[in-house]
Amino acid sequence: MPSMRVYEVATFYTMFNRNPVGKYHIQICTTTPCMLRDSDSILEAIQKKLGIHVGETTPDKLFTLTEVECLGACVNAPMVQINDNYYEDLMPKDIEHIIDDLKAGKVPKPGPRNGRFSCEPAGRLTSLTGPPNGPGFGVRPDL
Ligand code: FES
Repeated sequence: MPSMRVYEVATFYTMFNRNPVGKYHIQICTTTPCMLRDSDSILEAIQKKLGIHVGETTPDKLFTLTEVECLGACVNAPMVQINDNYYEDLMPKDIEHIIDDLKAGKVPKPGPRNGRFSCEPAGRLTSLTGPPNGPGFGVRPDL
């Protein structure tokens, strides 16, 4: 890969798992927005619940825990990716329930865990609250 820059090579290699991962690969984001929303408490809850640390797999090969950089869901921080699903707006009790469901063979519903839809505001709308202006709004009359 002679045309790749150093950071690109680093990213490229972190996209691969060099060792087998468990059936459920828990990737927890701890980048700044998630950290500010207390991803540390989520990481601690996972480690306590599963009895493993980052980079380890449970003895039953069900769970592997990996710490990753931003997964692009900062507005729903803190969050984890488990296999193909994102679990967002997490509290420690949420990740414990998610792990319990996975252990029971269920697939927990992905998405925010605090009741909001997608990434819409947790409270009421604060912008774009009126109907949109029609075509030509703000255009000079002589055009
Ligand atoms: S910082 Fe965690 S998803 Fe972006």
